[in-house]
Amino acid sequence: MTNLEIDRPPVLRLHDIHQVYGAGEASVHALRGIDLDVAQGDYVAIMGPSGSGKSTLMNLLGCLDIASHGVYELAGHDVRSLTERELAKVRNEEIGFVFQSFNLVPRMTALANVELPLIYGGVRRAERRRLALEALALVGLADRADHQPQQLSGGQQQRVAIARALVTSPTLVLADEPTGNLDSASTEEILDILDSLADAGRTIVIITHEENVAERAHRIITISDGLIVRDTSTAGVLQ
Ligand SMILES: Nc1ncnc2c1ncn2[C@@H]1O[C@H](COP(=O)(O)OP(=O)(O)OP(=O)(O)O)[C@@H](O)[C@H]1O
Ligand SMILES: [Mg+2]
Repeated sequence: MTNLEIDRPPVLRLHDIHQVYGAGEASVHALRGIDLDVAQGDYVAIMGPSGSGKSTLMNLLGCLDIASHGVYELAGHDVRSLTERELAKVRNEEIGFVFQSFNLVPRMTALANVELPLIYGGVRRAERRRLALEALALVGLADRADHQPQQLSGGQQQRVAIARALVTSPTLVLADEPTGNLDSASTEEILDILDSLADAGRTIVIITHEENVAERAHRIITISDGLIVRDTSTAGVLQ
């Protein structure tokens, strides 16, 4: 193990995670014993066939759901021990979500969309504006701050969504098929932004079906039938 690895504490730690939907004969064992550590600054892609448990895992990582069994620690906190209110706070402040369908609020400007997590977080107006503009500048959209989602291309909308995910300086950026609705040029723009976030030391976990998207990550985890069957790091990242 290199010094770098020792220096990077785990942001996520999953131990023997199981997720079962339903009960009795109709129950589905969607995750069947996931062990996973993600270090600070890791850029991880999760791949796997349809029905393998990717979204189930993502929902757990994002604290949108609690595992039926096993321990999930996010930034050192066992999420099972948190109240609903504390969980909501963790979701708002520690996790930046990016979705396939952008999920921007229509008829609200890009700036207002990016400010939303800060409103929930109780940040004052002037500071909100400053942080949101800074996040928009980071994704190259400072000049579109006053545009509404329908006035932006799909790629630009996804960049706004990334700015919104970043504005709270979250511990973890979680992206579920972030390029699934984009053409190849926009996909490339989003991947470039994710690269620069990774270079800046952000922890990123993305789900993707696309080989070329996964290859940009520093680590690729493949799940199949609720289990991790492959976990490969690219050579560059561990030295
Ligand atoms: N709410 C639910 N209730 C019951 N079963 C569910 C529920 N959500 C998912 N499942 C089942 O759990 C398994 C894993 O589903 P999941 O959505 O995590 O797969 P996935 O890897 O995200 O697939 P895809 O690539 O198609 O999005 C599947 O067998 C699915 O049918
Ligand atoms: Mg899914």
